[in-house]
Amino acid sequence: MEIDQLSARLKEYDQDHVVRFWEDLNQTEKSELAAQIESIDLPLMKRLSDEWIFPEPEPEAFTEIRSVPTIPQVDPARPDAQEALSAGEEALWHGRVGLLLVAGGQGTRLGFDGPKGAYPIGPLSKDSLFAAHANKIHNLQLRYGCTLPWYIMVSDTNKAASELFFKEHNHFGLDASQIFFFTQSMVPCVDDNGKFMLEAKGRLAMNPNGHGGTYLAMRDNGMLEDARSRGIDTLSYFQVDNWAARVADPYFIGYHILGGGQMSSKIHRKLRPRESVGVHVLCDGEHRTIEYSELDIYPQLLETDAEGNVICDAGNPAIHVLDVGFVEEICEHFDRFPWHLAHKKIPYIDESGIVIQPDQPNGYKFETFIFDALRFVKHDPVALEIPGPGEYTPIKQFEGDNSVQGARATMREYWAEWLEEAGFKVPRDATGSVAIDIEINPEFALTKEEFLAKVGDLAVAGNGDVSIGANGTSPV
Ligand code: UD1
Repeated sequence: MEIDQLSARLKEYDQDHVVRFWEDLNQTEKSELAAQIESIDLPLMKRLSDEWIFPEPEPEAFTEIRSVPTIPQVDPARPDAQEALSAGEEALWHGRVGLLLVAGGQGTRLGFDGPKGAYPIGPLSKDSLFAAHANKIHNLQLRYGCTLPWYIMVSDTNKAASELFFKEHNHFGLDASQIFFFTQSMVPCVDDNGKFMLEAKGRLAMNPNGHGGTYLAMRDNGMLEDARSRGIDTLSYFQVDNWAARVADPYFIGYHILGGGQMSSKIHRKLRPRESVGVHVLCDGEHRTIEYSELDIYPQLLETDAEGNVICDAGNPAIHVLDVGFVEEICEHFDRFPWHLAHKKIPYIDESGIVIQPDQPNGYKFETFIFDALRFVKHDPVALEIPGPGEYTPIKQFEGDNSVQGARATMREYWAEWLEEAGFKVPRDATGSVAIDIEINPEFALTKEEFLAKVGDLAVAGNGDVSIGANGTSPV
């Protein structure tokens, strides 16, 4: 599009200030700015500003908010669990399952310069988060004789680095043709008056459109078509920062299929009112996940009972199963999908072209959330509880809550139990905590049952750190 046309189109939406430095730009900068502008859905941005900023909307009011009914954590002896396992395994054996990973973030908060998925989480192997997830895929493919296509959503910021990381690591031994990177869209940040912001003379300040953007990004990048062409009807969704996420869990897939199969969620029982997890609730009978940053809007979600237990405690570990047809439907009605906004400090250039670093929030970022699709599910979605440790170790920072150190400590205790049941004497300190580093490659065993079946009752010798590699034991 020529500059006159671009400018006229922007003027219609009162946003033509973003081309005010046009004459100062070189040819490359002009093309890049034009491409950014052309990528913007101007009517959508107008709607978002009108609905969300002028004036700030009242939060939705509900008469009743209560915790979602859940399926108790899997007990393999229970008949319903056996039925679910059969349904899930059948889908895996028949190659109907694909994997959907969201990995748009950087490792900045971990003090790591690169895509979050490249973070070396393995305490002994130094395996990255990507490698850890790939190892789980190897295990499942061998067990079910299937190929699990792996759709990975990245962002403009980390796409090139993520692809290179996979190439440099030989796709972690997976077939390069089963791995698909696709990029989510970006939306412009707007200032307190609803105006787009420039972060440089030739560049708009934009942010990824949130992981709700996964739906459209899958369709628009041909991922849904690819899934269909391979006979995939079920997607196992997980987030890159959850090291322990059990991907393509046959029980979960089975419960999802038997439960009507549009969108299902795993549930992590919240222990503290302010734990950083969204909460899955029924708001006047409709399924919702209220994000932890929005809990203060609904104070009842912070209430505890006489024993101090959180009442609405169905936390959202962001592990879902999605039906491909349901994703297609969501895309058709994406204009009804809710947006969330966050008031942030956004660096920008002023009218004279000087960069300003604000010390107060000065603009808005708009995002959509994957779990907001729950309200469009036509029947009660499945909500399956996960056991405490071993499935949810989100990594948001290096130390403290939801950290690298916390995740390693949790997994150390979790794997120590496997080793002890296999006859290994795990050194523990005076408080009873495991005193060595332990790591078990998920390619070797995904569950304690599998681990015990593979090592039999053979006692593992030694007192040093224990690293069980993909092919078995190798104490270090
Ligand atoms: C998220 C969930 C929260 C859940 C918690 C579990 C949101 C909004 N909230 O919080 O309900 O309890 O995880 O750990 O997600 N991502 C993208 N593109 C985006 C935004 C995010 O790919 O535009 C990816 C990130 O790489 C990351 C994941 O989504 O893997 C989660 O995003 P993050 O911003 O870290 O959300 P949390 O605060 O962890």
